[in-house]
Amino acid sequence: MSANPPAVLPQANDPCWCGSGRKYKRCHRRDEGKVMPGEVSPMRTVPDHIARPSYADTGEVERWDEPIVKSPEVIEAMRHAGRVASEVLRLAGEFLQPGITTDDVDAYVHDLFIERGAYPSTLNYHGYPKSLCTSANEVICHGIPDSRIIRDGDIMNLDVTGFIGGVHGDTNATFCIGDVDPASRELVRITEECTWRGIEAVRPGRPLSDIGRAIEDHARTGGYGVVRAFIGHGIGHQFHTDIQVLHYYDSRAATVMQPGMVFTIEPMITLGTWQHRMWDDGWTAVTADGKRTAQFEHTLVVTDDGYEVLTGGPDAVSPSPPWTR
Ligand code: MF3
Ligand code: CO
Ligand code: CO
Repeated sequence: MSANPPAVLPQANDPCWCGSGRKYKRCHRRDEGKVMPGEVSPMRTVPDHIARPSYADTGEVERWDEPIVKSPEVIEAMRHAGRVASEVLRLAGEFLQPGITTDDVDAYVHDLFIERGAYPSTLNYHGYPKSLCTSANEVICHGIPDSRIIRDGDIMNLDVTGFIGGVHGDTNATFCIGDVDPASRELVRITEECTWRGIEAVRPGRPLSDIGRAIEDHARTGGYGVVRAFIGHGIGHQFHTDIQVLHYYDSRAATVMQPGMVFTIEPMITLGTWQHRMWDDGWTAVTADGKRTAQFEHTLVVTDDGYEVLTGGPDAVSPSPPWTR
C-alpha cells in the first residue's frame, strides 16, 4: 500500500494507485483537490508577561456562571479585545498568498497577538494546538494550521480570537486566494451578507431567533445551505458562554435580547449540504458532500436601540454591511 499519489494518476477505471484493489474512481479519486491533513508543528509558547486564560496550562476548560448582561467596564474591555482581534485578522488576511503553509499563518498570527499583549485564545483551548483556525475550501470550521500549502484558487477562512484585559474578542473572515472560481466568490459574498443580515436583526426586546431567521432566509433565497452543528455563542471572560445563537430559524431560540448582552454571529454557508463530517483529529469539520463553504464572524453587544460590533471599526475586513459600502 502506498500513501502518496504518483506523478501520473491512473484512468478512472484502472486500479487505484494506493494498492487497495478498487477502481481509482471508487477510491482515491474522491480525494483529488480535497483538503488533506498535514503535519502539525509543536505548540508555540507565550511569554510570561502575557496574562493567560485559566485553560492555557492544562487544556481543561472550567466553566463558571458569568452574567449575560455585561457591565460598562467589561464592555469597554471587550471593545479593546475586539479591536485587537479585528486588526490581527486584517493583517493575517493581507499575509495570505499561494505557496505559504497554514502553519506559516499560525506563526504570524501568534506573534501579532503577543506583540499586542494578547493571548491567542484558541491555544490549548480544550487542547486545541494552534493560535488560530484555518479552514480552506470544504472545511467548515476549526481547521488546524499545518504543513498544507495554500494554493491559488483556495478560499481560506481565518478565525482569530484574542484574550486581553480578562476578556475574549472573536472574529473571522473568508479570503479568496488568487484566481477563485465564480461560484466560490459568490458563496463568499453571500456569506458576508448573511452575517450582516444576522447582525442587523439584533435589537433589544426581540428573540435571538430573529437572527437565525434573517440568515437562513437570505441563504435559502440563493439556494445555499446553512450549517446547523456550529453556532454563535455568548462571550466575555470565557471564550464560550451560555447564549446560543443559531444561524437558522428555530422558534425555541426564544431568549430575548437585552442591552449589554455580548455574543457572536458566525454563519457557515455551503454550496451544497448543511451536513458535516469530522476528521479523525476531532476538530476539523468538513462538508459531508465535499462542496465548499464560507464563514464570517463578528462579536457584538446589544445596545439600547440595536447593536455595536466590537470586532468592527474602520480597519476591519468586514467593517459594515456590504450593501452600504
Ligand atoms: N473561534 C471559534 C469560534 O468562533 C472557536 C475556536 S475553538 C478552537 O467559536 F478550539 F477550535 F480553536
Ligand atoms: Co466564535
Ligand atoms: Co471564532
